[in-house]
Amino acid sequence: MRTAICPGSFDPVTLGHIDIIKRASKLFDRVIVAVLVNVEKQPWFTIDERMDLLRKATKGIDNIEIAGFDGLLVEFAAQNNASAIVKGLRAVSDFEYEFQMALTNRKLAPDVETMFLTTSTEHMYLSSSIVKQVGLWGGDISPFVPDCVHDEILMRIRQRSRH
Ligand code: PNS
Repeated sequence: MRTAICPGSFDPVTLGHIDIIKRASKLFDRVIVAVLVNVEKQPWFTIDERMDLLRKATKGIDNIEIAGFDGLLVEFAAQNNASAIVKGLRAVSDFEYEFQMALTNRKLAPDVETMFLTTSTEHMYLSSSIVKQVGLWGGDISPFVPDCVHDEILMRIRQRSRH
């Protein structure tokens, strides 16, 4: 049984994330989508909210599990017997940071491989920050997020903008 982790902030989940998660689900027997803490980002959604949105957005995919973890990604991978970390690469601009994380993770856990999947061209420009900005200023986020969680994401973004 081959297990992979799809890690990220998922603040909130976008169609770009779902694209990568679906691709990973075809390559591995079991894929754990893990909401982790990125110390460089100030999240808008709690870990529980992000997990809940992910659970709804991945409902139709059989071999997916959703988890949350505050600790090292490689520790989470070891706890779950995962052999790979799967991440999406959108553009060259993603590369340096992702490469740095992949090499660090390899130093910490040489047996866990990081794999990069290329996003579909349709989602190349997409990010959670773009979704938050568009939603905050009243734009239409429906082309960027899964239908089933659209209203919930928009409501939370709007709630936050009133604080
Ligand atoms: O979606 P993001 O913000 O690009 O994901 C980054 C994330 C959450 C995967 C990364 O920050 C992470 O792995 N955090 C857990 C802590 C950790 O292991 N840090 C060392 C990686 S170099």
